[in-house]
Amino acid sequence: MKIDGTHYRSLWWNGESDVLDIIDQRWLPHDFRVVPVATMQDFADAIFQMRVRGAPLIGATAAYGMALAMAEDPSVANMDAAWTFLEKTRPTAINLRWALDRCRAALRPLLEAERAAAALTLAHEIADEDVEINRRIGENGLALIREIAARKPAGEPVRLLTHCNAGWLATVDWGTATSPMYHAHDAGIPLHVWVDETRPRNQGALTSWELGKHGVPHTYVTDNAGGHLMQHGMVDMVITGTDRTTRRGDVCNKIGTYLKALAAHDNDVPFYVALPSPTIDWTVGDGMAEIPIEERDVQEVTHVQGVIEGGGIGTVQVTPAGTAGGNPAFDVTPNRLVTGLITERGVCEASEKGLAELFPDFARA
Ligand code: MRU
Repeated sequence: MKIDGTHYRSLWWNGESDVLDIIDQRWLPHDFRVVPVATMQDFADAIFQMRVRGAPLIGATAAYGMALAMAEDPSVANMDAAWTFLEKTRPTAINLRWALDRCRAALRPLLEAERAAAALTLAHEIADEDVEINRRIGENGLALIREIAARKPAGEPVRLLTHCNAGWLATVDWGTATSPMYHAHDAGIPLHVWVDETRPRNQGALTSWELGKHGVPHTYVTDNAGGHLMQHGMVDMVITGTDRTTRRGDVCNKIGTYLKALAAHDNDVPFYVALPSPTIDWTVGDGMAEIPIEERDVQEVTHVQGVIEGGGIGTVQVTPAGTAGGNPAFDVTPNRLVTGLITERGVCEASEKGLAELFPDFARA
């Protein structure tokens, strides 16, 4: 997407230095910093420290990490070691394992001498495919937004609510939940987006930054505001992203998504999830029981973080010293609360049948 007239992806291959460049998202929205990811430790740190984040972007980054591993040592032993090293960086978003599995399956049958070049080509392919998938999600989501707009008096905005950042920063480009918003805005449909702050990491600030750069009207609200807004008829539709969706359509996404789905259900607000197919975990049926939920450092909860005077990232404690904290980073929204899944192949019911109809090739595999 464009920032001040220049088109950016959230990562790109730097042909001059032969390394991957990323936008270090820890500094956003205050500072736009591009940093190289040049060693295997850099890759692991970039994912674990959330310099890159968002399920599809984590997957694409891991694919470039595998390409680096193959350039350093194309043996099967090193491929397996890289798989394990990168896979343990974050446990919940399935795109990480999906990308690593795809790389390993494609590279293992090749000769050692072929693997480095093939791994880099595959990483580029995974990145490009992500862009195309999200573009199509945008078109399919646009149709839903159009339907809502058609029922409103002319000129009245469609009021959307989103949680976390499932924007272009969380993918290679377009975003998942934001892609329909960008498509609708570009098509001239008046929109207003309620952006949940998404404590503790405040990914909503990234969403606000993105939407602002694209000129999409929006308001940043506390995580607790959504139920109130829905009760007062101020939300026409919720769209979130997902880190892992089960074959039955249970949606694991950023902590707090479930509460938004409950509030949407209670207030008859349609609750849609933008779902790229690599985020479907066909091996998991019951999301509540089977998806590992990442527990992050409690300091993210007991402290608030921001850019401090002088330019560094600083934290301020908000709890009494010694207070115990808990920090589950994701939750699971059961399929019964999800109105529909917006995928690159179309919109389907959040159910085993709905997903299998759209993806018979994957569902059978
Ligand atoms: O912890 P994060 O910031 O990686 O979590 C991101 C989310 O939960 C997104 O909503 C999800 O990955 C979908 S991104 C298109």
